[in-house]
Amino acid sequence: MTAPTMPSLDALWMPFTANRAFKAAPRMLARAEGVHYWDVDGRRILDGTSGLWCVNAGHARPRIVEAISQAARTLDYAPGFNMGHPAPFALAERLAEITPSGLDRVFFTNSGSESVDTAIKMVIAYFAARGEPERVRFVGRTKGYHGVGFGGISVGGLENNRKAFAHHLLPHTDAHLPSTHGIDANRFAHGQPAQGAELADALETLCASHGGHTIAAVFVEPMAGSAGVLVPPVGYLERLRRICDQHGILLVFDEVITGFGRMGAAFGAQRFGVTPDLMTVAKGITNGAVPMGAVFARRDVYDTVVDTAPAGIEFFHGYTYSGHPLACAAGLATLDTYLEEGLFTRAAELAPYWEAAVHSLKDEPNVIDIRNCGLVAGVEVAAREGQVGARGMEAHIDCFAHGLLVRFTGDTIAMSPPLIVEHAHIDEMIDGVRGALRRLR
Ligand SMILES: Cc1ncc(COP(=O)(O)O)c(C=O)c1O
Repeated sequence: MTAPTMPSLDALWMPFTANRAFKAAPRMLARAEGVHYWDVDGRRILDGTSGLWCVNAGHARPRIVEAISQAARTLDYAPGFNMGHPAPFALAERLAEITPSGLDRVFFTNSGSESVDTAIKMVIAYFAARGEPERVRFVGRTKGYHGVGFGGISVGGLENNRKAFAHHLLPHTDAHLPSTHGIDANRFAHGQPAQGAELADALETLCASHGGHTIAAVFVEPMAGSAGVLVPPVGYLERLRRICDQHGILLVFDEVITGFGRMGAAFGAQRFGVTPDLMTVAKGITNGAVPMGAVFARRDVYDTVVDTAPAGIEFFHGYTYSGHPLACAAGLATLDTYLEEGLFTRAAELAPYWEAAVHSLKDEPNVIDIRNCGLVAGVEVAAREGQVGARGMEAHIDCFAHGLLVRFTGDTIAMSPPLIVEHAHIDEMIDGVRGALRRLR
């Protein structure tokens, strides 16, 4: 295959990228299939991150490709406001069969960020409909990532994403629960760490200081991915659920990463045995093939908002591309693929092998913690003096140069391969990361 002609890199303002460094030394992908990418020079790269945590069934799955092209030929676009077409109804119905019980109302968006902002609006609409206007506060968690909309960065807790916009965040979003990261006793925990359930009690403290009746919702990722793979301590999510129930607070799980099989069940909620009131998803919903997100809501949240509204539009919110035909086609074919290939349980089957493999990196240079859950792992290396994040970035670049795509967040190397990987791919990934760790200064 001939290499594609390279365009100038000047015009594109790249997202979440060190633009200058990248354009000086680009890493460019050209095609993908199964668990591999090929770069523009024809080098094969093992995809250790499922793209960006989204290609759970592996790349270029023919059934999904065919469904998308068929949809493009049949109904390329259809408006979704006061108009419909069958696909989003069908996909919503199919999704409602796999969500945790009770969360069977589905609102489509185009991304995780839009899902989070949509969920925030749903919470506001719900409490307005219930006649509880005093519930105005949204509680997030330090190091939480909920996308880049103003709602998402307000409830989110990643400092770098917030600081430039600090004066423009949503009101009533300043309270954050402490992160569960960095508990010494939990270092190198296999799976869910033992210590830290009591960190959920910070919500109780917030209820005491602000009044529980003023808190509308708590947003957390069941397992925080983007902050560097932070696995919930045993009992932590259960405790959050209990405190929310005691104070009438809605619990929102952001499952943009943990959804669609990543944790070893369809959703993190099922894996951890804790059911939220709303759930935000994206990424794996279409196997990354077409942008799509969704919010799953408890049926009574929908009923409350819809039934109490006067005749006409009940919820003044929606996107031009909510329920886009190509996204719905991709979503239906993706769901068929996940179910037929047993991919919602495959991470659980692979987990023991995966866990042993990633923890074999424990004694490599600079490694200070390893965390794993389902088919996800984070390998944290000590920050180089005065250069936080440098080792993480260098590991990512070095792995890519050696044929492996991994992610980095600060000094944590994150791995989340497609759920179709075999043991040999896992071995190859671990060897790749081991090599990079040994080469790092
Ligand atoms: C938990 C979580 N929420 C929201 C988002 C934002 O999703 P998107 O980039 O599709 O807007 C992400 C993206 O990684 C995520 O991990």
